[in-house]
Amino acid sequence: MNILVTGGAGFIGANFIFYLQKMHSEDRIVCLDKLTYAGNLSTISATLNNPNFRFVKDDICSREAVFKLFEEEHPDIVVNFAAESHVDRSIEEPGIFLQTNILGTQTLMDACRTYGVERYHQVSTDEVYGDLPLDRFDLFFTEQTPLHTSSPYSASKAGADLLVLAYHRTFGLPVTISRCSNNYGPYQFPEKLIPLMIANCLSDKSLPVYGKGENVRDWLYVEDHCKAIDLIVRNGKVGEVYNIGGHNEMRNIDIVKLICRELNKPESLITYVTDRKGHDMRYAIDPAKIHAELGWLPETRFEDGIKQTIKWYLDNRSWWNEIVSGEYKNYYDKMYGNR
Ligand code: NAD
Ligand code: DAU
Repeated sequence: MNILVTGGAGFIGANFIFYLQKMHSEDRIVCLDKLTYAGNLSTISATLNNPNFRFVKDDICSREAVFKLFEEEHPDIVVNFAAESHVDRSIEEPGIFLQTNILGTQTLMDACRTYGVERYHQVSTDEVYGDLPLDRFDLFFTEQTPLHTSSPYSASKAGADLLVLAYHRTFGLPVTISRCSNNYGPYQFPEKLIPLMIANCLSDKSLPVYGKGENVRDWLYVEDHCKAIDLIVRNGKVGEVYNIGGHNEMRNIDIVKLICRELNKPESLITYVTDRKGHDMRYAIDPAKIHAELGWLPETRFEDGIKQTIKWYLDNRSWWNEIVSGEYKNYYDKMYGNR
């Protein structure tokens, strides 16, 4: 198999490359990544010399670059992770989200139609379903839940999902879509809740919790997500959507307190700051379909996954120190300076 992984220098894409190399070492992997602020070549540096691996720095929105790559590689499978992925940034600057997340998806699918693929897989998010209320813990997102987005990020992901399904119905493109809940694990950019709190704790900086910290997310260890995508791409039904999540709901404030405890830092570091605009209250996935059809279940318990993740950030300070001391520092000062 020749597998094109877009966005493979980012958090989940890189972990997916590692997963493929562990489980299917016979496959050739081509990684296409623009290396935006969120992409980091050092994450995949150990694999750059692997003869079964090729890295290409380019933009999924560039028709010329994408078609040239398909002409050279003729991928059998395309897994599209490339996206602008941070909700807070989408509130500051929506345009790039529409461009990359919707038009980039279109460009990739046009190349798939032209050159032919066995599968185009779109990595989507549970955020396309909007949010659930905090007083109805009996409700979950299923694949039938209507799309109802809150942020420019989630709207752009929902737009892409609709386009993917349209390309299947209109052009017969063999597509699948997965909608996953919040991931955590190694190599996550420290603008997201868990790595941001770990990095700030380790630097004795304040821990900025939005609003009252009561928002609930359904956390999944990144390797479990990678396993689910691999199963869908190889055994999932064309034209179908699969929800991925772990029945592991936690309030933000409880996560932050847990990180403080694990790192022996005082809870007095916690600072409640102005809430995110349009902040979704609760996400919760019903993963019954992927369990019934593909036998997938999350394997990593949160208690273990969070310890492994904290240990990874302790052992790999240089990876994230480089990020927090570079261009990201300006972003942090802008977003949190007067919050
Ligand atoms: P990330 O921000 O860590 O990585 C995104 C990667 O895409 C980066 O390497 C970046 O350089 C690359 N990229 C961005 N624009 C590009 C472009 N125009 N052309 C080529 N490459 C480009 O994101 P992530 O957290 O790894 O998320 C990956 C995918 O999974 C996204 O589609 C996201 O919507 C989805 N998702 C993420 C989560 C989560 O919890 N992180 C959960 C569900 C779904
Ligand atoms: O649900 C899947 C989504 O999860 C993905 O589609 C997104 O790409 C991914 O970024 C993530 O979105 P969230 O907005 O849920 O993740 P984030 O880590 O930004 O925030 C998690 C929660 O923590 C959210 O309720 C906001 C809150 N938060 C976040 C940050 C960065 C804080 O309280 N303080 C912070 O500093």
